Amino acid sequence: MAFDARLQRDIMGRFATGVTVVTTRYKNGDITGMTANAVMSLSLDPPLVVVSVDKSATMHSALSDGQCYAINILTREQEHLSNRFATPGPKDFSDLKWRDGKTGAPILDGTLGYLDCKLVNILPAGDHDMFVGEIIDGELGAGEPLLFYGGQYRSIAEE
Ligand SMILES: Cc1cc2nc3c(=O)[nH]c(=O)nc-3n(C[C@H](O)[C@H](O)[C@H](O)COP(=O)(O)O)c2cc1C
Repeated sequence: MAFDARLQRDIMGRFATGVTVVTTRYKNGDITGMTANAVMSLSLDPPLVVVSVDKSATMHSALSDGQCYAINILTREQEHLSNRFATPGPKDFSDLKWRDGKTGAPILDGTLGYLDCKLVNILPAGDHDMFVGEIIDGELGAGEPLLFYGGQYRSIAEE
């Protein structure tokens, strides 16, 4: 019998992560993004990262079409962006400060850092696919991280 999905979510929810908004530029130059914490550094040589995306997410077809993405790592003050980009459907960038990355994927202002990637592989993984990106560009930002733990946003405790 398959392992219980609720229990898998609950146990993996004990694995504290940061929160990112993965953005892309796809057909006709449209842009979109999705909140993601299933993000991982995969290889240093060549420099690869991976993002796991639900096959039912709008982002899935946008990424396949766009062939590029940027991983924008959110600060504690950017919880509203996490909520915005975790809402299904078209994403509104009109009130946000952002710029084009080298790949054309949107780079959000004021993050802890970003990685701008060219899509190099899509690996099947059950009801998700793993989008492997080669890092083309990136920059460090500053601030405190937004964390996700036990299904809730958290901050690093002050000493
Ligand atoms: C903290 C957090 C992390 C998430 N991580 C992922 C993820 O790694 N992969 C994924 O497919 N969805 C993830 N989601 C869910 C998507 O953000 C959500 O389904 C979103 O509405 C998809 O939008 P779209 O269907 O318009 O692309 C996450 C949501 C939250 C709140």
